[in-house]
Amino acid sequence: MSTQQNSQVQDYGDNPTAVRDSDHYQAEYIQNFVEKWDDLINWHARAQSEGYFFIETLKQHGAQRVLDAAAGTGFHSIRLLEAGFDVASADGSMEMLVKAFENATRQQKLLRTVLADWRWLTRDIQEKFDAAICLGNSFTHLFSEQDRRKALAEFYAVLNHDGVLILDQRNYDSILDNGFSSKHTYYYCGDNVKAEPEFVDGGLARFRYKFPDKSAYHLNMYPLRKEYTRRLLYEVGFQEVTTYGDFQETYHQDDPDFYIHVAKKA
Ligand SMILES: C[S@@+](CC[C@H](N)C(=O)[O-])C[C@H]1O[C@@H](n2cnc3c(N)ncnc32)[C@H](O)[C@@H]1O
Repeated sequence: MSTQQNSQVQDYGDNPTAVRDSDHYQAEYIQNFVEKWDDLINWHARAQSEGYFFIETLKQHGAQRVLDAAAGTGFHSIRLLEAGFDVASADGSMEMLVKAFENATRQQKLLRTVLADWRWLTRDIQEKFDAAICLGNSFTHLFSEQDRRKALAEFYAVLNHDGVLILDQRNYDSILDNGFSSKHTYYYCGDNVKAEPEFVDGGLARFRYKFPDKSAYHLNMYPLRKEYTRRLLYEVGFQEVTTYGDFQETYHQDDPDFYIHVAKKA
């Protein structure tokens, strides 16, 4: 793990837009930023905006055992536990998992946490699941196609034969083709918190997250095009991929802020 992991300052070096590395998330989710993450997403507003989409989709697919592969601060893990699912919560960031565990304890829930990088998931997780979720625009942290294929193949491997993967992403097509705009309705719902791109090219979307106390943090992400992600999902073996735009089945290409891919293994 990176030695910068416990640093209190994000370190992008002299040339931040040159940082295009799948391992760098370790140095991005520093303690101070993790402490602010829940202000950024605003649990209550986020729960209202996404409604029961994930819970209903998982139920439709008959899922009971769910792996939250990008648990973050635990938003979806805790919602799914409350809805009666059997949940394991994985993340590659220890800071995130500690925060998720604390958040769950405060809500009288015991989170089953696993520190695991998606690219080597089956090294740390030997169980099988009916569903895996990778939500909150997390998959965008992988910068090479090899890493993306490896992670998707690992998600595929932890699923039972008729399992389902739910993976979401920003609508980067719209950002790359038309520039950034956001309804500020989904995902990052916090009041007075701004999530905006600072730099975008075909290989990098560098977002700045500004908080009311004037603190600012960054995430360097890979701008995944929708059809590219869908193609990778099919190529690693998923048989049917349905893509929703801001939780709707029908949408105009440029409109959604986020896409949600529901990929069936069998
Ligand atoms: C944008 S946050 C989303 C967190 C949470 N799902 C949410 O929606 O609030 C991305 C998460 O993915 C995790 N992550 C990024 N790359 C990873 C990798 N290669 N393996 C495991 N976790 C990773 C980060 O540590 C972080 O918790």
